[in-house]
Amino acid sequence: MHLGLEKKVVILTGGTKGIGRSMVKAFLEEGSTVHFCSRTQADIDKANETLAKQYPNAKAIGAAVDISDLAKLNSWVESCAQQSGGIDVVVANVSCFKMDNTAEHWQAAFHVDMLALWSTIQTALPHLEKTKGSIVTISSVTGRDVDFTAPSPYGAIKAAVVHYTAQLAHTLAPKGVRANTCSPGNIYVEDGVWGDVERNDPELFKKQMALNPMGRMGKPEEIANAVLFLASERASFVSGTNFVVDGALCTGVQL
Ligand SMILES: NC(=O)c1ccc[n+]([C@@H]2O[C@H](COP(=O)([O-])OP(=O)(O)OC[C@H]3O[C@@H](n4cnc5c(N)ncnc54)[C@H](OP(=O)(O)O)[C@@H]3O)[C@@H](O)[C@H]2O)c1
Repeated sequence: MHLGLEKKVVILTGGTKGIGRSMVKAFLEEGSTVHFCSRTQADIDKANETLAKQYPNAKAIGAAVDISDLAKLNSWVESCAQQSGGIDVVVANVSCFKMDNTAEHWQAAFHVDMLALWSTIQTALPHLEKTKGSIVTISSVTGRDVDFTAPSPYGAIKAAVVHYTAQLAHTLAPKGVRANTCSPGNIYVEDGVWGDVERNDPELFKKQMALNPMGRMGKPEEIANAVLFLASERASFVSGTNFVVDGALCTGVQL
């Protein structure tokens, strides 16, 4: 399937590890220009260097930006649009993974997972309206099913992300902008969250693995494939959906 993402300008938060890193590569493979960020300057420098060699026909432009600083986030998004002449796709990927039922965690989860996501999209919106672009937000199966993280802000805020994305889809449809969510299941990356759980809490890892009906966790590329489809013109009549990519982990029926 030809996705038609060549030369499209993509803004992606959290692109140096895990699912974000796979999405950056997948967009570059399609010939997109990808602006991505993370907090760690050394990782950004390394990614910029290796991606430039790996994908000479595309453009990867990483920047060290902590999205919890909304002023810096907004000026980064705006500068990407100026540098690349617009924005076609926004992928809001970062989470701060706050899973304690404390005021501090509720505040941080709202600030990073919801408010910074809102702010990323809000700043990109005038550019997306010009290009009739598309928005993909990253939620989680924890936004759909109550799981081992309950009670905590993680799933509740992820559910809010799905709801807000559906609001965007409905209100932006007349302007030609689409908005969808992708909700990953358990995605195993050695230097990622499930790699950490495997090393630090093998009991939880074993328990969670046993809940995966395919007998395995997902790969970050499996999320990237779904996100690329949602972002592309191939999904031109898909807006407001929550694309759950979880190997049938969720037990609730999505009606
Ligand atoms: N992995 C899973 O099993 C899973 C399952 C369901 C949903 N998800 C969702 O998928 C998304 C990505 O998760 P992941 O597992 O790929 O995470 P990850 O491996 O921890 O990678 C997160 C990326 O975001 C960057 N980042 C974190 N906080 C940031 C901030 N404040 N500002 C800028 N960049 C920041 C990280 O780099 P720095 O640390 O250097 O900033 C890194 O590049 C999240 O929304 C998560 O909720 C993941």
